[in-house]
Amino acid sequence: MHYPWVAAALALHSVWASAPSGPWDAFNYAPKSKTVWPAAIHRVEGTVDGATNLVDNEGPATLAGNGSWLTLDYGVEVGGLISITFISPAPSASLALSFTESPLFISPLTSDDSSYPAPNMSYDGVLRVPAPLPSGWWTQPASALRGGFRYLTLVSTSSTPLTISNVSCAISFMPHVDDLRDYAGYFYAQDSSGYEDPDFLTKVWYAGAYTVQTNTVPLDTGREVPFVSSPGWANNATLGVAGPIIVDGAKRDRAVWPGDMGIAVPTQFVSTYDLLPTRNALSTMFAALDPLTGALPESGPPLSQTVSDTYHAWTLIGTYNYYMYSGDTAWLQNVWANYTKAVGFLEGKVDSTGLMNVTGLRDWARLGGGGHNAEGNALFYKVLTNSASLASYADAPALSSAWSANATALKSAFNAAFWDPQQGMYRDNTSTTLCPQDANSMAILFNLTTSAEQAGSVSKGLERNWNALGAVAPELPDTISPFIGGLELQAHFESGNDARAMDLLHREWGYMLATNLSVQSTLLEGFTANGSLSYRGYNYDPSYTSHAHGWSSGPTSALTFYVLGLTITAPQGRTWSVAPHPSGLPRAEGGFSTGLGWFGVKWWEGEGGFTVEVDVPEGTQGVVRLPYAVEGGKVCVNGVEAHVVEGVVNVVGGKSTVVLQR
Ligand SMILES: *[C@@H]1O[C@H](CO)[C@@H](O)[C@H](O)[C@H]1NC(C)=O
Ligand SMILES: *[C@@H]1O[C@H](CO)[C@@H](O)[C@H](O)[C@H]1NC(C)=O
Ligand SMILES: *[C@@H]1O[C@H](CO)[C@@H](O)[C@H](O)[C@H]1NC(C)=O
Ligand SMILES: *[C@@H]1O[C@H](CO)[C@@H](O)[C@H](O)[C@H]1NC(C)=O
Ligand SMILES: *[C@@H]1O[C@H](CO)[C@@H](O)[C@H](O)[C@H]1NC(C)=O
Ligand SMILES: *[C@@H]1O[C@H](CO)[C@@H](O)[C@H](O)[C@H]1NC(C)=O
Ligand SMILES: *[C@@H]1O[C@H](CO)[C@@H](O)[C@H](O)[C@H]1NC(C)=O
Ligand SMILES: *[C@@H]1O[C@H](CO)[C@@H](O)[C@H](O)[C@H]1NC(C)=O
Ligand SMILES: *[C@@H]1O[C@H](CO)[C@@H](O)[C@H](O)[C@H]1NC(C)=O
Ligand SMILES: *[C@@H]1O[C@H](CO)[C@@H](O)[C@H](O)[C@H]1NC(C)=O
Ligand SMILES: *[C@@H]1O[C@H](CO)[C@@H](O)[C@H](O)[C@H]1NC(C)=O
Repeated sequence: MHYPWVAAALALHSVWASAPSGPWDAFNYAPKSKTVWPAAIHRVEGTVDGATNLVDNEGPATLAGNGSWLTLDYGVEVGGLISITFISPAPSASLALSFTESPLFISPLTSDDSSYPAPNMSYDGVLRVPAPLPSGWWTQPASALRGGFRYLTLVSTSSTPLTISNVSCAISFMPHVDDLRDYAGYFYAQDSSGYEDPDFLTKVWYAGAYTVQTNTVPLDTGREVPFVSSPGWANNATLGVAGPIIVDGAKRDRAVWPGDMGIAVPTQFVSTYDLLPTRNALSTMFAALDPLTGALPESGPPLSQTVSDTYHAWTLIGTYNYYMYSGDTAWLQNVWANYTKAVGFLEGKVDSTGLMNVTGLRDWARLGGGGHNAEGNALFYKVLTNSASLASYADAPALSSAWSANATALKSAFNAAFWDPQQGMYRDNTSTTLCPQDANSMAILFNLTTSAEQAGSVSKGLERNWNALGAVAPELPDTISPFIGGLELQAHFESGNDARAMDLLHREWGYMLATNLSVQSTLLEGFTANGSLSYRGYNYDPSYTSHAHGWSSGPTSALTFYVLGLTITAPQGRTWSVAPHPSGLPRAEGGFSTGLGWFGVKWWEGEGGFTVEVDVPEGTQGVVRLPYAVEGGKVCVNGVEAHVVEGVVNVVGGKSTVVLQR
């Protein structure tokens, strides 16, 4: 089969524009150097002389006595190999290292768990460095890499005093990038609307970006499967067909998970524009397509779980996102046969009701989910509308219309089956009254709702699940899922409920970023309704929870796409849209780069009206959608009164200033 692909292939991010520098740089969590030293001493037990010398590598410290220990604090989430200089160690001296993300699990006897969730919270144990220690500079074995931690505890395990210095961590994530702080995008807004920290929105944008950086790892640093036996851990498994590659979490699972990418990749797009790890992850999934059925795996190797219709759909959604962000036609062409086969796999599950019968039940840990399920069908709808659009880029108009027609039919079957007028929301399936957070958020976001009133009703209904710390998922009781929360956040913006979106953002991400149960720099996988550490139970092992999970970074893209209002509407931004959601802020600015160059936006409220400055590549074109009614005022583009249709003005590439004068 031959498709005359419309766009030229692109040299993937070989050069990207750096974002401009400014006050926002102070909120970038990424380390300044690829080797880091402790920022503080968190705790000392027993006899330790000169502990504070280890901060910033100022000198040596001596641990004296079996069982004396100290805990170093790297200040933010880090990951990588530890090196230590042993200064003339006595033949009998020995040491143990333990690692943890949360300070709750600091212990001289065990690390937080990453290999396997065990109720005793002691599966991983410590890394022992037995006597005799080498004299001088030592580096931990590569297979014992800890991919995510903030606290490192060093324990003397003999009665002989041991003098050490130079306790560094060589950052292992983003192996292909020298300057971890050189982002291709930025976001900056000061919030004076009464929330406590005026810089919170900027901080959370950068926390999401840094979280995804910590999930971008070398190919051969996956968690070993089967899991090593206790005590221990090993992160030397091969993660896919090429590296670097994007995984779900820094500490664990350290495997490709396409659902997680549904949030993490938009974050990557607006912040680092580092799309190569995403291409490698998607290529890994397509290479593992089941040739008999067309099923894609749920996760990448060595985990390689299967039987998940929703994660199958997420790989297809990720393909669309990657193509839109990168314009990488050559890659799309290469996977196209497998892509269409995989769409066919979902089509094959549609029965006489017009709905997909979800039979691959693995998912983000939610309960239920089988049969004529709303979430599965919402994802399938998104796959169909995306596929119609990809097929038109691939110059396959007949396929595009067939997918489009099937999307239209599915939208009507979806509304007929799941809409519950009494509750004003969608139910999980036809035999329940439970209205899940996932399908209802997706229904707004993926345009399954049929009117603004219906979307508004769903947005309002979702708020009924909130507590002080965020949105508790009805489909996974006692759990706040920032993955699904990220979809909900976008759904509130999408339906025009900006104040509700901001409220959720402050509750859920405000808690995650501030709580001293976590690392205060990257974002938690999930937590319980009362804020305690745990996601889906994990065998009652809260120490297994990941504190750097890209799927929790929803605010980063939401702030860029909605609050700033900048989105692309064709690959790489050949066409774009700027539709600010002021959300009570006086001003916001930011932007991102693609292979075409820099896309920047600034908007502010002023006495003369509302101003939007757009700075985008020449040769592109787009629209500016004003957030306020134009009636009684006028709109000028570069000083010239412009033609406005329903609040939208057409703008060409280059620099433009659009002013709504009131
Ligand atoms: C977190 O802060 C609370 C309140 O300040 C304090 O009581 C608690 O000990 C702190 N927990 C940790 C793990 O640092
Ligand atoms: C200190 O650690 C750094 C980074 O690990 C290493 O490059 C350097 O050689 C070490 N210095 C000494 C004196 O061992
Ligand atoms: C990973 O490291 C462990 C411990 O060093 C080793 O036994 C194992 O063979 C390694 N696995 C791979 C895939 O290299
Ligand atoms: C150090 O203490 C541990 C735990 O109390 C004990 O098992 C171990 O034998 C001691 N080692 C030495 C060399 O005294
Ligand atoms: C903790 O539980 C795991 C799994 O059951 C077991 O393998 C391990 O030995 C236990 N560790 C301790 C220190 O009891
Ligand atoms: C497509 O799937 C087959 C297995 O069905 C696999 O062998 C092949 O490598 C895949 N192609 C691509 C480009 O991923
Ligand atoms: C329907 O949804 C409810 C609520 O999520 C769930 O408990 C039930 O198992 C689902 N039914 C089927 C057939 O999957
Ligand atoms: C979905 O398919 C399974 C397996 O074929 C079947 O057992 C189940 O009854 C079907 N569910 C519905 C709602 O048709
Ligand atoms: C559209 O849906 C019909 C009915 O389920 C199915 O037979 C057909 O294969 C679908 N078309 C495409 C292009 O997937
Ligand atoms: C949403 O779907 C309707 C058709 O159901 C369509 O007219 C409209 O353009 C879609 N909106 C977007 C933003 O795609
Ligand atoms: C918080 O919730 C967890 C999990 O449901 C529970 O074990 C714990 O007791 C609760 N903590 C408080 C302070 O209520």
